[in-house]
Amino acid sequence: MTESTVAPATPAAVIVLAAGAGTRMKSKTPKILHPIGGRSMIGHALTAAAGLNPRELVAVVRHQRDLVADHILSLADTLGTVPVIADQDETPGTGRAVQCGLEALTAAASPTPDAGPRGTSGITGTVVVTYGDVPLLTTELLAELVATHESESNAVTVLTALLEDPTGYGRILRDTDGSVAGIVEHKDATEAQKQINEVNSGIYAFDGALLVTALAEVTTDNAQGEMYLTDVLSIARAAGGRVAAVTTQDRWQVEGANDRVQLQALGAEMNHRTLERHMRAGTSIQDPATTWIDSTVTLESDTTILPNTHLQGTTHLSEDAVVGPDTTLVDTTVGVGSTVTRTQASGAVIGDRAAVGPFTYLRPGTVLGEQGKIGAFYETKNTVIGRGSKLSHLGYAGDAEIGEYTNIGCGNITANYDGVNKHRTVIGDHVRTSSNTVFIAPVTVGDGAYTGAGAVVRKDVPAGALALTVAPQRNSEGWVEDRRPGSPAADAAARARVGHGTPTTDHTLTGRPTQSESGSTQR
Ligand code: UD1
Ligand code: CA
Repeated sequence: MTESTVAPATPAAVIVLAAGAGTRMKSKTPKILHPIGGRSMIGHALTAAAGLNPRELVAVVRHQRDLVADHILSLADTLGTVPVIADQDETPGTGRAVQCGLEALTAAASPTPDAGPRGTSGITGTVVVTYGDVPLLTTELLAELVATHESESNAVTVLTALLEDPTGYGRILRDTDGSVAGIVEHKDATEAQKQINEVNSGIYAFDGALLVTALAEVTTDNAQGEMYLTDVLSIARAAGGRVAAVTTQDRWQVEGANDRVQLQALGAEMNHRTLERHMRAGTSIQDPATTWIDSTVTLESDTTILPNTHLQGTTHLSEDAVVGPDTTLVDTTVGVGSTVTRTQASGAVIGDRAAVGPFTYLRPGTVLGEQGKIGAFYETKNTVIGRGSKLSHLGYAGDAEIGEYTNIGCGNITANYDGVNKHRTVIGDHVRTSSNTVFIAPVTVGDGAYTGAGAVVRKDVPAGALALTVAPQRNSEGWVEDRRPGSPAADAAARARVGHGTPTTDHTLTGRPTQSESGSTQR
């Protein structure tokens, strides 16, 4: 089926099953909370489901219930809808999970929950069922399933795939005319049925009313003692309903992650798809093998990404930005035409035509103005830097505000922490600070001010002033030969003195002063 045949789908509900324990992850974290491509697995599943604009989005939970439910509810803003949390009881199986989902749906729809049992008899329209651990499933494929289901007036439409190794999956049973007769679980299948390589993805579109009545007939009489959702297909058929399948050629979209090996494989495939999407939309990616981009990242066209670059979270690159190599950006915005080289940044905003790196660490709250620069071995945090200002080499700026067209010299540091509290440093426009200036916050430097090398700025500097805090230099002539006799430095000093024709002792050019000679020069 092509995309043009996909009707706008508004199912009554999408029920996402997420009650399972996921023990094969060998993790204290519930399986569906594991991240992949910048979202939790359940986050991907709910995002794909929410894309159908269902009247209700339901998540069925049980294992680590509170942790999972809190996470799901925390996604409400990004999903644009508040999911209904349904608790599965002790009866196991996908059939029971869906039943619990339907019950929560009617409970949520009831304005007066105390008005007595309503049951699930009121449910009409299409109900989609999908899993919380199938992260590559797209809204497009779900919409295709719903469109087929509705255009064919099916009772059940199941999404299937043809697998080389179908071990473990439920198998699709078809009549000789090709129509779908039912599903048999691997553990219940005969040897002949195990040869079938068309498998149940576990993703379906159901007629809601039929689903409710069919589930009432499902028992736990099978090899696993579970209520199988798959039994609904043969029940629907027996009741005269039409059961059909949509078979996808894209097995990745129906693949679940049961352990960390599968999670990695799905993560690599997701990244591959994300990179391809961006390249087709106008981003140059020099080395896809070492480039990892979360599905949540946005890139404008004519952006360039150099090897070993990781873009995560809400990171956004504007047109003509060049990022990398060896760069990790988390929740960071890069302006038009800016370059970010060998940098680690988190929660930073880099303006247009700015330059960052190499070997730069931008921490949250860093805002770099247009045409600004933060250079090598600089760390910044909670610092707003105005247009055209430069922090070129070796330093730290924290809790600071720097105006426009200011040049911060090499090795400058804002001493923002007094051991108890953090304090702010405010530096004006067109300021020139010399090497190794330390700003003891709180302190303010006025527009156009200068600082001398090594200044330790404890008091505010008025606009246009030069702040000098280092004592004038005093040279103690002959100190090295007096105090470090016999050392290579003293030898070099002696040679230099003779070379300049100003010997102060009479030992020979290459000779070292004797102990008595050197002793005689002591003051
Ligand atoms: C199920 C299907 C099988 C299909 C396979 C695809 C049934 C009976 N079998 O297999 O035909 O090929 O999925 O992966 O439906 N879940 C709950 N509550 C439960 C049990 C499961 O919410 O009581 C959830 C799990 O969290 C998971 C999904 O349902 O997201 C599938 O569960 P899983 O145990 O992996 O599926 P199987 O029963 O093995
Ligand atoms: Ca499974």
